[in-house]
Amino acid sequence: MARFSSVHARTIRFEPHELGRPWEEVQVHVGDELVSWMQTVDVAHRLHGAELTSLGVVGVHTADAHQKQGHMRFMLEAALRRSEARRLMMSTLYGGVPDLYHRWGYATVMPEITITIATGVAKLAISSHSVRLADEGDWPAMARVYNRATSSVNGSRVRVPDRWPGPRQGTYFGRLKTWSLVVADSRGRVVGYCTCDGESVAHSATQEMGVCEISVADAHADSYRAAASLVSAIADVAVKRRVAGITFHLHPEGTVGRYLANHETTVNVVRPVGQAQMVRISDPHAVLKALDSYVGQQAALLDPSRPERVAVRTEHGVGYLMLGGHGLPQVVRLQTSRLAEIIFGYRSATELRAVHGVRLSRRDAEMLDVLFPQMDSYCCWPDRY
Ligand SMILES: CC(C)(COP(=O)(O)OP(=O)(O)OC[C@H]1O[C@@H](n2cnc3c(N)ncnc32)[C@H](O)[C@@H]1OP(=O)(O)O)[C@@H](O)C(=O)NCCC(=O)NCCS
Repeated sequence: MARFSSVHARTIRFEPHELGRPWEEVQVHVGDELVSWMQTVDVAHRLHGAELTSLGVVGVHTADAHQKQGHMRFMLEAALRRSEARRLMMSTLYGGVPDLYHRWGYATVMPEITITIATGVAKLAISSHSVRLADEGDWPAMARVYNRATSSVNGSRVRVPDRWPGPRQGTYFGRLKTWSLVVADSRGRVVGYCTCDGESVAHSATQEMGVCEISVADAHADSYRAAASLVSAIADVAVKRRVAGITFHLHPEGTVGRYLANHETTVNVVRPVGQAQMVRISDPHAVLKALDSYVGQQAALLDPSRPERVAVRTEHGVGYLMLGGHGLPQVVRLQTSRLAEIIFGYRSATELRAVHGVRLSRRDAEMLDVLFPQMDSYCCWPDRY
């Protein structure tokens, strides 16, 4: 790749973002020309009962004329160093370009899941609650419903009710326009909500043919009855717009997902590798420390002769799994990308060893599989920065 060389100095700036702190606008200039830019935001993701701090990265771009000269590398590495100095444990991003971000240790850690239901089937949902369009005043209540529903969903982001700025986007990154519905109980308390993509130009052009869908980027409810009311209200919108189906982007184990599982639906699970929702472990010590209590509980499932502790050596330093057994301390070597896949449950250690040639003894792989069984982590679309 052609390396950057210019008579002008290359500089990086961390500017205020229109959304305020903890967002930042990162810019690379050559002389006074802007060549690369992205936005970052400090967030926290839940994992096994802990909250892991992360630098969310979004909107990475290098101007066409300046690509392939190392500007993005320069920018991302500077932002990561800055986040490490602030003790953020990880970095998360949505990799839209395949096979790019692994260079910095990012690994895909969650599947993309959609559940599609025909409008006619959704229309059969029985509504027992009132449902109305949400406005800004509903954001704190929506954040509370979300937190109740996702407190044990690995990968989900933490929304601070009084500071949550509402759904910043729907699915994918061009869909900044959204509409939300809230479900209220008989006392007017918000017990469910959904956020859907706003109409795109393509949608308006094809809706007359009745082939379009309503795309739900996020939906949570406190109960099945609230979920049914929500689905019924979305179906009403679908009927009004004459669209054939509704696609929900959500974790199938949430209340809305489980409600939908009782109906005829099409569930599509994509397990991307090297793209989509990715995590980079910047500080393995801090990440594994945060998981101490979870690891302690899982370790009880292992034989008492398990090691007292396991040092996990990575290219970003050492972290420890405190197993509390009678056995001697042990060392396991793993790249942080593999460690991320294992702790988020995306791939089992045994699979990494057998299928992907990761150098682990069978015994170590089996031990890691007991500590971190496979499961689907999930981050809702509006939380992907
Ligand atoms: C992707 C993009 C940001 C890369 O910017 P850039 O300044 O050209 O990247 P760099 O020159 O710093 O390259 C860094 C590394 O990524 C690699 N790379 C760059 N573009 C790549 C691409 N499209 N696919 C795969 N690898 C790529 C380079 O080969 C280089 O690897 P190396 O250092 O190991 O040789 C730029 O092409 C772009 O703005 N594309 C359009 C917007 C976009 O797709 N953004 C990403 C959204 S997730």
